[in-house]
Amino acid sequence: MVKDTEPQHIAVIVVAAGSGSRFGGAVAKQFCCLGGRPLLMHAVDAFRHAVPGAQIIIALSPEMMPVWQQLCRRYNYESPQTVAGGATRSISVRNALEAITDNADIILIHDAARPLANSALIDRVIRGAAQHGAVVPAVPVTDSLRRADTDTAVDRSPFRAVQTPQGFDAQLLRQAYRQPLQPRFTDDASVVEAYGAKVTMVEGSPVNIKITWPRDIIVAEALMKATAEEAES
Ligand code: CTP
Ligand code: MG
Repeated sequence: MVKDTEPQHIAVIVVAAGSGSRFGGAVAKQFCCLGGRPLLMHAVDAFRHAVPGAQIIIALSPEMMPVWQQLCRRYNYESPQTVAGGATRSISVRNALEAITDNADIILIHDAARPLANSALIDRVIRGAAQHGAVVPAVPVTDSLRRADTDTAVDRSPFRAVQTPQGFDAQLLRQAYRQPLQPRFTDDASVVEAYGAKVTMVEGSPVNIKITWPRDIIVAEALMKATAEEAES
């Protein structure tokens, strides 16, 4: 847990305005259950636990607001502040940025689709952001890689898979999000990098998987159980 004596004000954006088209199902994946609770609650609670007192904003698609409010009542869950998301992830982030208070020094941005971020990971990202200004957690790629365009093998050793939460100096992030948003901006680091800033990698967590397909829930359930058992032993 980040100590109360930390001088920085930390704000967190959890983006949850996607439609979960690859996951499918009646309701978008961020509202689906993992260990009996919606993914979005897991994602928010990771920050409530790791950074008590941080401002947390969630971006939701306007039509899903009633669904979220209903879930909050059912689970007796206090929702963080909500904002309307947009047609792309970057628009959802940009909308949420407008709701962040001026005194934030560091802004973390996290996908609701990653319910298993832990405090150690969040701490690394905060410390990295304070030191370097723009930080992403990353893990080595374990599969062999090939180029689809030339059908040739690629040396995977210089590559890393990038996760969230990503952490940024608040002023830098706000400025970067003022540029025109491009379709190639799949994460916040790509927005900040296109603005001209250097992005630094910190160690990600192999447990911090993104729920993309229905089978990922099965993996996440198993990882959650294994992590809880490890903590008990
Ligand atoms: N997201 C968002 N606003 C969008 C699109 C995505 O807030 N317009 C969020 C998703 O809710 C998710 C995160 O960005 O928490 C990462 O996106 P992804 O895993 O791709 O989720 P979806 O876009 O919902 O899924 P898919 O691409 O399969 O449709
Ligand atoms: Mg998507």
